[in-house]
Amino acid sequence: MRLRSAVNLADVREAARRRLPRPVFDMIDGGADDELTLARNEAAFREIRLRPRVLADVSAVDPAVELFGRRVSLPVLLAPTGGGRIAHRRAELAVAAAAAAQDTVYVQSTVTGYPLEEVSRAGGGGLWYQLYLPSTREETRTALDRVAAAGYRVLVLTVDTPVFGGRERDRRNGFGLPVRPTPGMLLHGASRPAWAVEFLRGNLPTRRDGRLSAWATQRQILASPRPVTWADLAFVRGLWDGPLVVKGVLRSEEVPRLLDSGADGVVVSNHGGRQLDGVQATVEALPAVVDAVAGRVPVLLDGGVRRGTDVLKALALGATAVLVGRPYLYGLAAGGQAGVEHVLELLRAELLRAMALTGSRTPGDVDRGLLLLPGG
Ligand code: FNR
Repeated sequence: MRLRSAVNLADVREAARRRLPRPVFDMIDGGADDELTLARNEAAFREIRLRPRVLADVSAVDPAVELFGRRVSLPVLLAPTGGGRIAHRRAELAVAAAAAAQDTVYVQSTVTGYPLEEVSRAGGGGLWYQLYLPSTREETRTALDRVAAAGYRVLVLTVDTPVFGGRERDRRNGFGLPVRPTPGMLLHGASRPAWAVEFLRGNLPTRRDGRLSAWATQRQILASPRPVTWADLAFVRGLWDGPLVVKGVLRSEEVPRLLDSGADGVVVSNHGGRQLDGVQATVEALPAVVDAVAGRVPVLLDGGVRRGTDVLKALALGATAVLVGRPYLYGLAAGGQAGVEHVLELLRAELLRAMALTGSRTPGDVDRGLLLLPGG
C-alpha cells in the first residue's frame, strides 16, 4: 500500500506499517496492557448509528468551527504526540506545516524533536502547546515564558500521565526513546532500508542544530513523568495568560472544579488507550462531560477517530472538535508533510460527505437527533 493510493485512514496505517521497522510501528500503534481501551475507542464509534435528515439544502457544506477566537477550517485538530522523529526526519516541523496548509491546529507536545521556536515558525505561529510539567515551579515558569515568547496561543495541560501506562509491545520489542543502536534495532532497521537511511540522515548528532539537546530533553521527560495536582493546575493557570485546556478528562464529576480552577476547555481523552487500560471509550465518556460543561467552554475529544462519520458523531454528542493522534503519525511516517495533509484531506472529504448525507450544512446543524446510541 502506497500513500497516494490510500483511500482511507486504514490504508494510511498500512502504508506506515510497511515503511517502519516493527518496533517503531508498534510504539506508535500500540496501547497499554491488553489494549482493551485502544480497541474500545474505535469500537464505540462504530456502535453508534446515524439517523440522516433528508430534504435539507446541502449544496454548500462548511465544517469550519471557531475555537478561542480563531476560525478553524476543519473540526479535526492534530493531537500532541512525542517522538515523531522516529517516524520521519522532519517530524514536528512537517506536522506544523501540514496543519497550517490545511488551516487547522497542531498541538505540539513537550516531547519534541525540534526546538519549539522552530516548530512555531514552521506552523506560521498561533500553535497550541501541550505541557508535561517540569520538575520544579521555577522551571515551569521559565518553560511557559519560552512557550509564550515563541508565539503559542493555547496551552494544553495533560493530566492523565502521573506515571506511564504499561506499553507491553515496547517492552517486548526492547524499545525505548531515544532509539539506541542495539543489534535488534539494527536488524529491524535493515528490514526497512528506506526508513533507516532517512532516520540516520535526520538523527546523526550534530552540534550545530542542537539535535543532541533535543534528544537529551526527551530522555529527561520520558524518564520522569510526574503527577499534575489541582495545586499545579492553579499554579499553571496563574502563569499562563492565554486559553488553558485540560487534556485527559473522563469524569463529569470533575468538570465543576476544573472550570472553577480556570480551565477554558477540556479534552475528553484516555491518551489513545496508552495509559490506564480498561477505561471507557472517550465517545462513551463524552455526553456526561458535555452535559456537565453545559456550553460554558469548548469540549474536545480524542481517541479512535478514524472516519469522517466518527467526527460527525462526536460533534453530534456536543464536542466542538476532535483531535487525531496515530492517524497523522501514520501519514507522517508514510509521506512526511504530504502524508499528514493526505490524512487531513481524507477526513475532510469524509466529513463533508457525512454532513451532506445527514442534512447538515454546518456543525451547528449536527445534533444528538442524528444519532441512535447503543441500547437507544
Ligand atoms: C501520544 N499522546 C500524547 N499525549 C500528550 O498529551 N502528550 C504526548 O507527548 C503524547 N505522545 C503520544 C505519542 C504517541 C506515539 C501517541 C500515539 C499518542 C496521546 C495523543 O495526544 C492522543 O490523546 C491520542 O493519540 C488520541 O488517540 P488516537 O487518535 O491515536 O486514537
